[in-house]
Amino acid sequence: MSFDLIVRNATLPDGRTGIDIACRGGKIAALESGINAEAGTIVDADGQLVTPPFVDCHFHMDATLSLGQPRLNESGTLLEGIALWGELKPLLTHEAVIERALAYCDLAVSRGLLAIRTHVDICDDRLLAVEALIDVREKVRPYIDLQLVAFPQDGYYRSPGAADNLKRALDLGVDIVGGIPHFERTMADGAASVAALCEIAADRGLMVDMHCDETDDPMSRHIETLTAETRRLGLAGRVAGSHLTSMHSMDNYYVSKLLPLMAEAGIAAIANPLINIAIQGRHDHYPKRRGMTRVPELLKHGVPVAYGHDCIMDPWYSLGQADMLEVAFMALHVTHMTSRDEMRFAFQAVTETPAKVMNLEGYGLEPGRRADMVLLQAYDPIEAIRLKPARLKVIKAGKVIAETPPQVTALSLDGRPGTVNGRDYQPKATG
Ligand code: FE2
Repeated sequence: MSFDLIVRNATLPDGRTGIDIACRGGKIAALESGINAEAGTIVDADGQLVTPPFVDCHFHMDATLSLGQPRLNESGTLLEGIALWGELKPLLTHEAVIERALAYCDLAVSRGLLAIRTHVDICDDRLLAVEALIDVREKVRPYIDLQLVAFPQDGYYRSPGAADNLKRALDLGVDIVGGIPHFERTMADGAASVAALCEIAADRGLMVDMHCDETDDPMSRHIETLTAETRRLGLAGRVAGSHLTSMHSMDNYYVSKLLPLMAEAGIAAIANPLINIAIQGRHDHYPKRRGMTRVPELLKHGVPVAYGHDCIMDPWYSLGQADMLEVAFMALHVTHMTSRDEMRFAFQAVTETPAKVMNLEGYGLEPGRRADMVLLQAYDPIEAIRLKPARLKVIKAGKVIAETPPQVTALSLDGRPGTVNGRDYQPKATG
């Protein structure tokens, strides 16, 4: 029997070792030890970690790589970022948005990031960024699953024309309904926007992913409305609340009521640790709040939690390199989730969980699924988060589409080894 590609001697994220993965026709045909067959391409994993691709379920591709245009965010706040983006919007061109987005997608592929859900601002009446990202979605379709969310950045009610633009964007083929209730003029407007947007999604059979309560205000409670609307309209499994940072500051008794309601409604939570820790708490004196939603508590109540990158080199965040392991690394620090099981959860929150949130078909390392995977220079998910290592091979539909040489540094030290790579000293961790 012959295959297109076989990855030999892989360790899988669930701990299975010595696994061969045989691919044919873009799918995983077999996944077991000791596959005795020929293949057009053989990849020797040498016992290292092979994972399904990284998934980023919260991003802003229309703004990415625009850092410094037209100026930098001096305060570091969300509100200055929104104002700055407002200054840049009239200067955008179709070609420039496409060029930046494609450059970002190249970077994403190099990091094994092969599925991205991006919000796209629909408040510009030209819908220029919408049309550009629809083009990008087609261009990258062979190697990246790109979902678009119609995002009324300046407010669904607050921005004149946003309601009409949002429907036009959906008519053009944007996949998902977004929102930003905490940015409407009043709490009542915010709640009304959540209801109106969920009704649009229900009417059109679409998913919802709303920027929700991205604030330190303990009384910002649009997640309660989103939860209630999800239940009222029968949208279970199709709704995500993004950010939810106000939950960090809410009264504990109130949260004890909210969490079971979120689980009952079948809603998912998307936290964005790099951006949340950088932007929230900016109005605090000491002690400064972390502004990250309550991840362990959400998980305990059965609410799925995924992590997104949100921003890279744009009006809100100056850093980032499309590395979802960097996101997981920050998340486990900010949430205090540092036990070995919790660190493994952080890996799932940038792979399997966001794949479920995005309803990605055929995702995962099982026979019959898509032959998409990444070979890392690490032995397990915890080491991968620690090292943020080289993506030795990125495989899409059974073909190697990106390769990075192993990281190794040559040393010139008397009496010491000739090389070091971060994995030479392996303490025996249990569990
Ligand atoms: Fe966002």
